[in-house]
Amino acid sequence: MQDRAGFEEFVRQLPKAELHVHLEGTLEPELMLALAERNGIAAPFPDVDTARAAYDFADLQSFLDLYYAGADVLRTEQDFYDLTRAYLTRAAQEGIRHVEPFFDPQTHVVRGVPFGVALAGILLALEDAEEDFGITYRLIMCFLRDMPADDATHTLHTARLYPHRIAGVGLDSAELGNPPEKFAGVFAEAAELGYRRVAHAGEEGPASFITDALDMLGVERIDHGVRCLDDPAVVARLVAERVPLTVCPLSNVKLRVFDEMAAHPLKRMMDAGLLVTVNSDDPAYFGGYLTENFMAVADALDLTLADMTALAKNSFAASFIDDALKATYIAEVDAYSAGA
Ligand code: HPA
Ligand code: ZN
Repeated sequence: MQDRAGFEEFVRQLPKAELHVHLEGTLEPELMLALAERNGIAAPFPDVDTARAAYDFADLQSFLDLYYAGADVLRTEQDFYDLTRAYLTRAAQEGIRHVEPFFDPQTHVVRGVPFGVALAGILLALEDAEEDFGITYRLIMCFLRDMPADDATHTLHTARLYPHRIAGVGLDSAELGNPPEKFAGVFAEAAELGYRRVAHAGEEGPASFITDALDMLGVERIDHGVRCLDDPAVVARLVAERVPLTVCPLSNVKLRVFDEMAAHPLKRMMDAGLLVTVNSDDPAYFGGYLTENFMAVADALDLTLADMTALAKNSFAASFIDDALKATYIAEVDAYSAGA
């Protein structure tokens, strides 16, 4: 058995996919301050230490308030490029081979930053990282569930100006009070237009939101979904239908979904036969990127190298790439772990 440093190095270089990361949530305080200065606007925080000290959250909403305040420094195509490039550069250094990142177009459009400006910067950075680092991608745009459904529909229609650039639609922001059914119409239209579909469900909201996201939105993957354990029938269905769950351990503890990592249900979810993946959600705000998320659960829940390998394989299995590419990546995981 390796020591902890060896274990961590194994995890860092393990080929992985990241399926639940909000690009706006990768905005490190250093870049936030630099972009505020470049754009001649006030930053939400006077310095990096003040920003990091403020990242102490009581719940999802208290995080969202700072996350949207931080995103206000993103104004130009170059800003979105720099944000995305910084994340992908780190991703390449920690074994990430494939990403399905989220962005929140409405957050930018309501501030007067056009959809196409945000999208162009993000896509250029994704294309460059595919060329420079070999990281493949499928971009997902999330609708903000605390905005009216009509606004989500308007966003979907705007996206039609950029055919084949956005692979899927998702649903994020404040879950409580904004159930899946509110977005049934826009998800039905997205399905007709050929978009893949995911939704945050069962993070702060009840297990029934997971079922409703499957039945009313037709989603193919659930983001978070940790509250499924409140209802054995929901777990049984997720197992039977092999619905992937993108779990974010550091996020869950930072947002007080669970009091401490030792109470995190990831291991129980794996043991129940759920197709779980580990992800970073908003790493600049939650204290770690993908490797730190793997290590946090490994340390707290006594996970093994075999568990790490299984989670890495799950990340590719749960992705939206075609079966041939999935097989290629999973063979890479096997070759890597055989050589470790
Ligand atoms: N949950 C809901 N909305 C979000 C999150 C999250 O974890 N991160 C960014 N927007
Ligand atoms: Zn999220």
